[in-house]
Amino acid sequence: MITNHSEVKRLTYHTMKDFDFTNKRVLLRGDFNVPLDENGNITDDSRIRQTKPTIDYLLKNNCRIIVMTSLGRPKGKIIDKLKLDKVAVRMAEIYGRDVTKLNDCVGDEVKETVNSMKPGEIILLENLEFRAEEKEKNDKIKNAFAKQIASFGDYYINDGYAKSHRKNASMVVIPKFIPGGVGLLVEKELDAVNKVVKNLRKPYVAIIGGAKADKIESIKKLLTKVDYLIIGGVLANTFLKANGVDIKTSKYDQESVAVAKQIYKTNQNKILLPVDVVVGSSFAENAESKIVNIGEVPNGYLIMDIGPKTAKLYKDKLSEAATVVWCGPIGVFEWPKFANGTKQIAAYLAKSRAFSLIGGGESAEAVRLFGYAAKMGFISTGGGASLQMLEDGELIAVKVLEENYKMFKL
Ligand code: 3PG
Repeated sequence: MITNHSEVKRLTYHTMKDFDFTNKRVLLRGDFNVPLDENGNITDDSRIRQTKPTIDYLLKNNCRIIVMTSLGRPKGKIIDKLKLDKVAVRMAEIYGRDVTKLNDCVGDEVKETVNSMKPGEIILLENLEFRAEEKEKNDKIKNAFAKQIASFGDYYINDGYAKSHRKNASMVVIPKFIPGGVGLLVEKELDAVNKVVKNLRKPYVAIIGGAKADKIESIKKLLTKVDYLIIGGVLANTFLKANGVDIKTSKYDQESVAVAKQIYKTNQNKILLPVDVVVGSSFAENAESKIVNIGEVPNGYLIMDIGPKTAKLYKDKLSEAATVVWCGPIGVFEWPKFANGTKQIAAYLAKSRAFSLIGGGESAEAVRLFGYAAKMGFISTGGGASLQMLEDGELIAVKVLEENYKMFKL
């Protein structure tokens, strides 16, 4: 069956309904890259919960489910805190089935376990990014790795919307080898974000924050679409640094400073940066905190949140918006002393008439934590992925499934 889902690029790919899954082995790529606390406990399990409809559908069709995901950024190394044991336990609780977690994502143990699986069984492969091949630049190596994983399944389903902007082997190479399609979560998210793109009402304001420092590239394109860009988190520190502000020991991305400088120079009228901040004496929940103006961060302190003047400035700009996209918290919202900026933005959006699209694990966690989730327009599991959709109207991992559709007729 041909399914035209995207209003933007009109991609054609298989959906779950197109497959006869009975007794088959399904490789399900989820994105259970969940937020963890300092002890490695899951602080928000929405990404696992949101794949439940897909799991239920597969179980109803009596198949053997091999789940794959990555967690964190282990960069090809085995890191105990990023092992998937706790994810497997939470999956079992949510899905109501035993989940067997394996110690690797390739190799003999996986092969043997997969071969002996019974219909209705769920196994979880170990963190894909413990293997450098998952993000390998050399195509030959990446292909060989993906081919090995592909050999474990009859079909491939992508339900990892939040990772679908990445060119990882599990996202874009496995579907070169076996028939594949999108899962129910990916279908739902694409539909929702496409609607935002199609009916975008102006003024359009984006808020980009979070702890990931590598968002600079997506900022460039975003600036061609938005009326205003509000910046918080580590990215704000990078821009402040680029503008010559002494941010002392605050976290920032050295590699992005030059680009940030360039971007700011040509987009000053669109970009809003903090004018005051909450600083902490160390990166700790109970660190001593102070509110200071930008440029007055004391020695030994680091920026942990925006200050009250900045919160007001940001809310004033948001009052003009008809559409708001928010990806990444404004400060260290998990710790009460540094949560105020994120909380104020969430509260403001909750009562605003603008349509708000919240993207990403942490922003979603923040709006839930502060009790505003029900008041938002749409909460997406993907931050980077949703930004990519808003910029380009497509995601590489979904595009690959369009090629897969042409290659494998079901
Ligand atoms: C996310 O959390 O946005 C996705 O899982 C992507 O993670 P990554 O930026 O580490 O690839």
